[in-house]
Amino acid sequence: MSPETNKPDKYLLYQSSVQNPVYEVNFMRRVYRKTRGRSPLLLREDFCGTAVLACEWVRMVRGGRAVGVDLDENTLQWAAENNIARMGSKAERLELACCDVLTAENYESDIVAAFNFSYYVFKEREILLSYFRKVHETLNSTGIFFLDLYGGPDAQVIQEESREVDEEGLRFSYVWDQARYNPVTGETVCHIHFDLPGGNRIERAFSYDWRLWNLPELKDLLREAGFEKIDV
Ligand SMILES: C[S@@+](CC[C@H](N)C(=O)[O-])C[C@H]1O[C@@H](n2cnc3c(N)ncnc32)[C@H](O)[C@@H]1O
Repeated sequence: MSPETNKPDKYLLYQSSVQNPVYEVNFMRRVYRKTRGRSPLLLREDFCGTAVLACEWVRMVRGGRAVGVDLDENTLQWAAENNIARMGSKAERLELACCDVLTAENYESDIVAAFNFSYYVFKEREILLSYFRKVHETLNSTGIFFLDLYGGPDAQVIQEESREVDEEGLRFSYVWDQARYNPVTGETVCHIHFDLPGGNRIERAFSYDWRLWNLPELKDLLREAGFEKIDV
């Protein structure tokens, strides 16, 4: 519960509705082992938010280390007090960096992960390219960059979609609100709302002002940034 609002904490609701760190850690390790023939140890989680993926990495990967990068101090504070505080001595293998991913230190990494489309915050081609170049620089010679993509015709429609979530003692509806889309620039504004039992709503718990990049554009940019092999 959030003491200020007496409603469930919006970060907990977010984690329960849109994140699946165990699946993601398993997926990245499987792909890395299959293609590189060894296990990855070093993860950089870009746009880490509550760093739930970085925490799971350190929990699941023996000897693994992780760095979570995010520019929002309050979110990182929440991560430290809630997710990292529960990790005991494993927390020693985890670091949080409060900075822009565009200027973050080049931590040596086997894997860089950027999930839930966060790089869509970069609306200009040159800026997204400089981010991809930065990721390429920070990866060691056998490194892999994992990122996900949201798009297609449905993403261009102004609409709300909701889904029931019943997890870890929390029951609520997750609402994805595609509030604005500009077909000329590809810019979109989306919100996440949470509908709680009893008719309460956490309106605009999270809002995103993004550009919808498409797959061919992203493949071109990744190639230009130095990535030799791009698997979809
Ligand atoms: C959509 S959330 C992603 C959280 C989590 N990675 C996930 O998979 O759900 C986006 C996060 O990116 C952070 N962010 C936005 N722009 C950033 C930037 N330029 N550098 C670092 N973090 C940034 C925000 O503070 C926010 O926590």
